[in-house]
Amino acid sequence: MFERIQPAPPDPILGLSAIFAADNRAHKINLGVGEYRDATGVTPVLDVVRTAESRLFESAPNKVYLPIDGTPDYGRVVRELVFGTGSGEQANTVTVQSPGGTGALRIAADFAARHFSQARVWLPDPTWANHPKIFEAAGLTCHSYPYYDAASRQLDTERLLAGLAETQAGDLVLLHACCHNPTGVDIDDDTWAAVARILAERGALPLIDFAYQGFGDGLEEDAKGLRIFRELVPELLVASSFSKNFGLYQDRVGALSVVTADAEQASSVLSQLKICVRTSFSNPPAHGSALVTTILNDSDLRSAWLDELAQMRDRINGMRQSLAQGLVRSGATQDFSFITQQKGMFSFSGLNPQQVERLREEHAVYIVGSGRINVAGITPNNLEGLCTAICAVL
Ligand code: LMR
Repeated sequence: MFERIQPAPPDPILGLSAIFAADNRAHKINLGVGEYRDATGVTPVLDVVRTAESRLFESAPNKVYLPIDGTPDYGRVVRELVFGTGSGEQANTVTVQSPGGTGALRIAADFAARHFSQARVWLPDPTWANHPKIFEAAGLTCHSYPYYDAASRQLDTERLLAGLAETQAGDLVLLHACCHNPTGVDIDDDTWAAVARILAERGALPLIDFAYQGFGDGLEEDAKGLRIFRELVPELLVASSFSKNFGLYQDRVGALSVVTADAEQASSVLSQLKICVRTSFSNPPAHGSALVTTILNDSDLRSAWLDELAQMRDRINGMRQSLAQGLVRSGATQDFSFITQQKGMFSFSGLNPQQVERLREEHAVYIVGSGRINVAGITPNNLEGLCTAICAVL
């Protein structure tokens, strides 16, 4: 039976890491996958995570199954983080723990496919390369709405609002809460409110992907748009990821939170989400969520985490400045100051696929085919080589 199976292309992001690993050139630079690296080029385990791990080790939790939707404590800390202090106990909102943010999106996709099978899924243009694949894998059809204006390198507000006015009752609309992946261009407060009003009017269901909380302007600041939104729409889904802000990439820690009209609806939705989980991965992994819960429930650990998160954010913003300046020093004639205005881990460089390929072939610099650069992978050591390579392919 396997004779007729055709080989699939490598994943455009994670597949790049495998090609990079096989590259023997000593000066190679990996700015593909969105992983934070420190100034020495290492992806650190946060000190606060090590502390929480040793506490967990000493308290020797058992290894029995978690509840299908994860622990209630984890759900509560996630809701406080996403919706603000005091939101943990709101009866109209439920949370299921998921393996990473991708797991949360897939639960949302499965839930939509089961209950709103005619739903069209609207994704921003551009978006994370995995987004359409997740929804299509669940059997849903994806459409794009305008988001980014390549000429001005800004949000295309007018076309965004016009595009979302095309949505219908029952459609699912995905928005990035902050640090838009891949462009780094975010929605401003007024536009969040305008988008919320359009979706509420049309009856479309918003799904907010919140993978980079704390990597833009700060933990609370990055949630501002989402919280404006929550005031204006009756129903909402939020997919959280703790891969980046806790550095727990391989522990696969995420959550799907659903805001409904009341406690009764919340309970029905939760019961159906549990079926999506049970038929997909049964129940969630425990280690990463126990770390997040331990850290967020302890005021000292929480403030140590906020410090480490700020250090990561500040280093990335410093590298944005250095990249923009380094390109000028290396002879770039075009204006790269936009790099300093983008938010989060990524910079949408504007390099075309041929230039991206030349970067890889001729200079051993790996960035995603869309021209997305992981700024969090730039270090004082690789900066000069990177700028020289970019200027050579421009
Ligand atoms: C990325 O966009 O690089 C990250 O979200 C990692 C991934 O899974 O693609």
